[in-house]
Amino acid sequence: MVALISLWAATTQDEGKNSDGEDFYGPYDAQELFRTVESEIGVEMVDFKHMVYVQERAQYEPADKVEDGLTVLNISGTELRRRLAEGLDIPEWFSFPQVVTELRKSRPPRDKQGFTVFFTGLSGSGKSTIANALMVKLMEMGGRPVTLLDGDIVRKNLSSELGFSKAHRDLNIRRIGYVASEITKNGGIAICAPIAPYATTRHAVRGDVEVFGAFIEVHVATSIDECERRDRKGLYKLARAGKIKEFTGISDPYDVPKTPELRLETEHVEVDNCAHQVLLKLESMGLIGA
Ligand code: ADX
Repeated sequence: MVALISLWAATTQDEGKNSDGEDFYGPYDAQELFRTVESEIGVEMVDFKHMVYVQERAQYEPADKVEDGLTVLNISGTELRRRLAEGLDIPEWFSFPQVVTELRKSRPPRDKQGFTVFFTGLSGSGKSTIANALMVKLMEMGGRPVTLLDGDIVRKNLSSELGFSKAHRDLNIRRIGYVASEITKNGGIAICAPIAPYATTRHAVRGDVEVFGAFIEVHVATSIDECERRDRKGLYKLARAGKIKEFTGISDPYDVPKTPELRLETEHVEVDNCAHQVLLKLESMGLIGA
C-alpha cells in the first residue's frame, strides 16, 4: 500500500509543465491531498521530500530547505531520455557512471538506433524510385544495414498468395510492418514502399515499429491524374477498362495521410531532390549525422 501511494505521489510530479513552463502540480500536492483522507481511509502516509542537488554543497537536499543564492541542479525524466537519445553527457551527480553505461546500452543514441521510412502513395506515384535513391544514399553513408521492402518485391517474395481485397492488403502491410519492426529492433534501417491505402493499417504498423525506433511516414503525393498519365506499368488503362478490379485510386480507396512526417510533391521535382528531402527530415530528427 505504501509503495502504491508513493508511486502515485511521484506520478503527479511527473505530469510535466504547462505552456508557461510551470509544473502542473506542486511537488507536495499529492501528499497534501492524501493527508486530508488519511484518517478516513485509516492508512498512514510515509512521506518523502522532493530532493534536489545543490551544487555548492555537492549533495542532495529537500527542495524547500535550500538556502537562497545556492545553485540547484535537476534533470527531469524527459531531459534524461533526451540526453540518452542524443548521446549527451549525464553528470555524475545525477547517476552512477555504471548505471549510465547500462542505460546507454539499452537506449543507444538516436543516430545508432534503427528506424523505418514508410513510403505510401498510389501505384506509379514514384515510391519505388525515390525509395531506391534513398537506399543508395543511406548505404553510402554507412553505419547501419539498409533493407528495402518494396511493394512489388514483397508481393513476389513474401505475399505471393495475396490479392488486393481489403483483408489481403491489410495482411500484406502488416507483414511488411512486422519485418520492418524486426529490422528496426536490431538497429537497421527499413525502407518500405507499398501503396498501403488504409490509414488504420498504417497506424497499426506505426505502433509496431515505434516500440523499437522511429517511424517516418512519407506520403508520395503524386495525383491520380499524373499517375494515370504516366501509367508506367499500363495498369491504369487496364483498370479503366475493368480488366483489373479493385484498383487503388480508380475502383478502390486510398486514404490520404493526414499528418505524415513528410509529404513529397513529385511533379516537376527530381527524384534525387525527393530523396534528399527525406535525408534532411532524418537529419532533423537526429537519426542520421548532419
Ligand atoms: S497494397 O495495397 O497491398 O499496399 P502493394 O504496394 O503491395 O499494394 O502492391 C501494389 C502494386 O501491385 C501496384 O504498384 C501494381 O503494380 C500492382 N497491382 C495489381 N493489382 C492492383 C490493384 N488492384 N490495386 C493496386 N495495385 C495493384
